[in-house]
Amino acid sequence: MPTRNPTPLHPIERASRDELAALQLQRMQWSIAHAYNNVAHYKKSFDTKGVHPSDLKRLEDLSKFPFLVKSDLRDNYPFDMFAVPRANVARIHASSGTTGKPTVVGYTKNDIDTWADLMARSINASGGLAGDLIHVAYGYGLFTGGLGAHYGVERLGCTVIPMSGGQSEKQVQLITDFKPDLIMVTPSYCLALAEEFVRQGIDPATSSLAIGIFGAEPWTNAMRADIEKRMGIDAVDIYGLSEVMGPGVACECIDAKDGPVIWEDHFYPEIIDPITGDVLPDGSEGELVFTSLSREAMPVIRYRTRDLTRLLPPTARSMRRMTKITGRSDDMMIIRGVNVFPTQIEEIILKQPELAPHYLCEITRPQHLDELTIRVEVSPEHAAHGAEIRNVAAEQLANRIKELIGVSARIELVAPGGVERSLGKAKRVVDKRGK
Ligand code: DLL
Repeated sequence: MPTRNPTPLHPIERASRDELAALQLQRMQWSIAHAYNNVAHYKKSFDTKGVHPSDLKRLEDLSKFPFLVKSDLRDNYPFDMFAVPRANVARIHASSGTTGKPTVVGYTKNDIDTWADLMARSINASGGLAGDLIHVAYGYGLFTGGLGAHYGVERLGCTVIPMSGGQSEKQVQLITDFKPDLIMVTPSYCLALAEEFVRQGIDPATSSLAIGIFGAEPWTNAMRADIEKRMGIDAVDIYGLSEVMGPGVACECIDAKDGPVIWEDHFYPEIIDPITGDVLPDGSEGELVFTSLSREAMPVIRYRTRDLTRLLPPTARSMRRMTKITGRSDDMMIIRGVNVFPTQIEEIILKQPELAPHYLCEITRPQHLDELTIRVEVSPEHAAHGAEIRNVAAEQLANRIKELIGVSARIELVAPGGVERSLGKAKRVVDKRGK
């Protein structure tokens, strides 16, 4: 039997805030100079704003520097954001994006090494131990989920099952036969796997899995409770994005489950007002912005993630935490002037036992006015109920949405399986306005 000993924390995970800040400043000065000296985009944008790397004397001076946005990455497609010669880039990943060209990211050997360390740290925080058997169902390929998780599992001294996404029947067969301790997967695909277990006549809560490390898409605490119950596991939140590294920029600690801890020794977070760009104090909700502190191949300085969250004080580690992501500004629906996130709808759906957490929000504008339709599945246990009971459930959902969010929604209840399952990131919004 493998020994399951906890891996000791890296000293920085226990450091004082002063020690951490000193390391951050030293690394930030390096990162900003590295970006300015080696990437034409940064030289131009810093010069235009009249700032120079030597202006960064304290961490707060970062706010003088210009933001980096997604379109800057696209404008420099494919390799112009690299700060090292292409031959020194050991690996490339890319995120598909909804329109146009993908966003390309590059890693030197050292970057891959740091990523593996931070993923190992994340798995350790999630309760994974050296010797564990870990099933990776994040997609492998240009998406950072699969390979990012894979290297972290190996670095922690665990055994990896590189399953990737899809082939649900086989996933369940392997989980049943290999008996992994942990699974790494998107929350929405985990729900699809739970269904596949049931289809095969197995209660998913009886599987060998003890912990799931979930991320790559917004999911609520209500969804966490649902997955934990269905699967009989602890569900932990891992956050990351390709532009900044991939999975493992932040990860929750299993004992606390109080929001992902940002690995601040490598990524410096800021929260800004998405309209004015002003830096907001910790605790305020706004857009998360990251500056990489150690990346060689592709430093990012003040990258606007479009993810909305809050920074919280440290608890289980020396680093600050973030609240679960409310949503991406891209996913925010504006329905007759009211801002709505799919996560808000999800929370309400999960409170109704007659409904299953499979849903899609569709927006149309038939008569010059926005209309929101929510297609949601009836839970398998309630599928046989008559139309009357189902109508009551739909009406209740519409009323709650109106009351809690302030928008009118048309509810379309569909049979189990009526909403398309994702193999990776779930699609929650279809906007048909103006089409
Ligand atoms: O999704 C990296 C990743 C893979 C993270 C596996 C966690 C696990 P991208 O494809 O570039 O990278 O998408 C990044 O996904 O800006 C968020 O909007 C969203 N996202 C990622 N993790 C979470 C999370 C990967 N835990 C985008 N909660 C990010 C909410 C998340 N949203």
